[in-house]
Amino acid sequence: MPNIVILASGSGSNAQRIAEFFSGDDRVHIPLILSNNPRAYVLERAQSLGIPARVFSREEFYAPGSIVSLLQEQNADWIVLAGFLWKVPDALLRAFPGRIINIHPALLPDYGGKGMYGHHVHEAVLRDGRPQSGITIHYVNEQYDAGEVILQARCPVLPSDTPDSLAARVHTLEYAFYPVALQWCFFGSNQS
Ligand code: GAR
Repeated sequence: MPNIVILASGSGSNAQRIAEFFSGDDRVHIPLILSNNPRAYVLERAQSLGIPARVFSREEFYAPGSIVSLLQEQNADWIVLAGFLWKVPDALLRAFPGRIINIHPALLPDYGGKGMYGHHVHEAVLRDGRPQSGITIHYVNEQYDAGEVILQARCPVLPSDTPDSLAARVHTLEYAFYPVALQWCFFGSNQS
């Protein structure tokens, strides 16, 4: 049974969607949700979902071994980033090779990299007058938003869009595709 630890920095709507999707699948267990932000709404969502949650500091995250040990204690098989904004340290990448997955709210390689997250992405897409945006689900490597792509999905950008309305459309794609893309990564094409 794969153990999935979710890392989130903010609202955590993707974390909730993933937890609800897999709550009906007794092959998947989510023992812990981790956040770098003590005020993140994802912590309240974790409580409502009955999933233990923990906050870590920058020092803990980047100290050699600290987060890796915590994840190993949980017998984590996969690390799922759901709106997590810190760069993943090399020690964590080495401990979970090909086992850390991220979602980005744009069609990478466009609008990725340091500082490109959440509403900054949607503001940039609108500023550039792009006709389309979307999501990219990808493996995490040592560079921001540059790991191997697992799945991309597109949506239109409308002339009337604001960053909030575009974010809402992109979130709809995230909720539809992130859980199924994860399921595919965990179990391959054989879903039964
Ligand atoms: C999501 O749109 C996710 O793609 C984005 O943050 C949002 C988190 O929303 N991630 C990034 O920008 C990572 N670079 P949520 O907290 O409601 O799931």
